[in-house]
Amino acid sequence: MITLKSPHEIELMRRAGKITAAARALAGEMVKPGVTTHEIDRAVAHFIHKQGAVPSFLHYNGYPASVCISVNDEIIHGIPGPRVLKEGDIVSVDVGAYIGGYHGDCAATFPCGRISPEAQDLIDVTRQSFFEGIRFAREGCRLFDVSAAIQQYVESHGYSIVREYVGHGIGTQMHESPEIPNYGHPGRGPRLLRGMTLAIEPMVNAGSAEIVQLSDGWTVKTRDGKWAAHYENTVLITDGEPEILTAPAI
Ligand code: MF3
Ligand code: CO
Repeated sequence: MITLKSPHEIELMRRAGKITAAARALAGEMVKPGVTTHEIDRAVAHFIHKQGAVPSFLHYNGYPASVCISVNDEIIHGIPGPRVLKEGDIVSVDVGAYIGGYHGDCAATFPCGRISPEAQDLIDVTRQSFFEGIRFAREGCRLFDVSAAIQQYVESHGYSIVREYVGHGIGTQMHESPEIPNYGHPGRGPRLLRGMTLAIEPMVNAGSAEIVQLSDGWTVKTRDGKWAAHYENTVLITDGEPEILTAPAI
């Protein structure tokens, strides 16, 4: 069942979304050569608590940190630790915040200092694929219209879509129905209705779509060692334009 949020619930999700977006922005500002991923995790956790919220990811299925930080060929679910970021890295930050009974969830890939044009293109195409997708995040469209638009944009740029992980509905639970694949056939999937809140999150590999799971039980990497990027927002379906609940403040 896909839940439809009431106007009051939507207000609460706006608040969760704003905090989550600000947490992502803080993490992005900290991505610099010499910083450890652990330091970013600590600062973001502190910020979320200061806002009166709780990091959604901490202890979720045993996840040991507040933020997922995935560097270069790591796609998602990288665990923060002693790794020191260096010039040229690309750093995917995924963060969730829970307040008032509702979750926000968003992610982005940030450049560490000066990066290669190839890495920047991967970041740009991944981010833009989200915006291509949400052109169809409208009442009357079907969910896989969104999925297909993301896939089409990514593959037309020569990159590949991760299949094993997908976006999701979000609300009182971080993961609600429906699953939102970043690939699929237009005209299929559930009809979108106002009040649905969806975490849409393309995960894009520069090389092949194949992934490997690390023995830490979390980190997901590309099999071929080529780099990957991630972009996610929590989105509200309305009677018109979709509303990005985790939009950057500026
Ligand atoms: N944003 C991710 C998701 O939508 C992160 C969850 S990972 C975990 O699934 F750390 F929370 F487990
Ligand atoms: Co998510």
